[in-house]
Amino acid sequence: MTPLRFPRDFVFGVATSSYQIEGAVHEGGRGPSIWDTFCRTPGKVRGGDTGDVACDHYHRHPEDIALMRSLGVQAYRFSIAWPRIFPTGLETTPNAGGLDFYERLVDGLLAAGITPWVTLYHWDLPQGLQDRGGWASRGTVDAFARFAEAVGARLGGKVAHFITHNEPWCVAMLGHMNGEHAPGHKDWPEALVAAHHVLLSHGVAVPILRAAARGAQVGITLNLTPGYPASASAADADATRHFDGFFNRWYLDPLVGRGYPADMVADYRRLGRLPANGELPFVEPGDLETIAAAIDFLGVNYYTRAILRSETVPEAENLPRQIPEPAAESKTDIGWEVYPDGLEALLLRLARDYPGLPLAITENGASYFTPPDPDGVVHDAARVAYFRGHLAACARSIAAGVPLVGYFAWSLMDNFEWAYGYDQRFGLVWVDFATQVRIPKDSARFYAEVIRTGAVGE
Ligand code: FCB
Repeated sequence: MTPLRFPRDFVFGVATSSYQIEGAVHEGGRGPSIWDTFCRTPGKVRGGDTGDVACDHYHRHPEDIALMRSLGVQAYRFSIAWPRIFPTGLETTPNAGGLDFYERLVDGLLAAGITPWVTLYHWDLPQGLQDRGGWASRGTVDAFARFAEAVGARLGGKVAHFITHNEPWCVAMLGHMNGEHAPGHKDWPEALVAAHHVLLSHGVAVPILRAAARGAQVGITLNLTPGYPASASAADADATRHFDGFFNRWYLDPLVGRGYPADMVADYRRLGRLPANGELPFVEPGDLETIAAAIDFLGVNYYTRAILRSETVPEAENLPRQIPEPAAESKTDIGWEVYPDGLEALLLRLARDYPGLPLAITENGASYFTPPDPDGVVHDAARVAYFRGHLAACARSIAAGVPLVGYFAWSLMDNFEWAYGYDQRFGLVWVDFATQVRIPKDSARFYAEVIRTGAVGE
């Protein structure tokens, strides 16, 4: 194996999000989020699981910081639970108890030599805002501005990396189009309105964060999935174009000042998802300029690719379908194909089509169940192979000139995987949810070695 070296200043981190790990949903003045509500809606989350306890990170964060330190992790990407800061989202003064918690967390990280990367919104909207329309309402943009201001003001001197949003596609499409995520709506036109308000709130928050946290770098994280045509036919090429517009360009293009992609606006008009003609009803004058606020980096979450053929569009929009189905051995437990070449191709394409934007992989990882063996050791060889392949793809893309500055493994530890509940385990660290015992897996040792040596074998 030839070792591929990363640049000396490359950042190796791990990622989590608030609702997936914190628990303590009634403590510190936290209000209910849309995920508390969604988990209690029968049939929405596998096994009726909830984030009520999750990894109990709210109480165990000192132990979790020590764990990261023992692995040599350099940076930790976590998110702020909005309802800990504004319990209903409607208050004008933040809840000090919530800010105190995150400041303690940040202080603990800094003391351990770990750089915090803070995501503002990783899906746990205060229920009070949902009751007033949530992301379908423009009022939520103003509430997000207050949230960004409060977090920036408190953490600004200590946190130098902020991510406004995690995966607007998921918020809009899983939350409002196919109903798999909170708030569980199934309404195409509403999903496009929600996407716009999420992007707009990002653009509004960028200057607020910059002013409140002087010198901080501000970015946004998108989940990007490269599409591949199932055949060489013109119809499959067009299906792939459409998928790319739906999944990737609808977010990328407005963020860099190109507005919504014209081919997709035409498709959506034809499909009755947008009015047949005229201005887009949810775009007000100045919105597109606001969304295009200059950012310091683009966060990229990559898990898999999609293979498209014409018959699956527009149905393919429900989720990337893989046709033909990948061979069983190349799929993770969640059914996503293992395809590291897709990450390299994606990074090269971003550097070519969206030049001048530093990139960070803010999530990448694999779900495999792999419980501890009788000696209490977790041998997760498939996850090791997944990380090896994708880290090598990162190193190759850097060698080819891609401005990739960091990589965050998803996830530090097994956690609440949204609609899948605790069934899907993405962690480098095994969590026994009955006892809260944490066991670093083989993949944690593998990743620690990559960080230590700054290189990965191909
Ligand atoms: C991403 C989410 C993250 C986790 C992974 C598996 O879409 O951002 O919270 O669920 O998928």
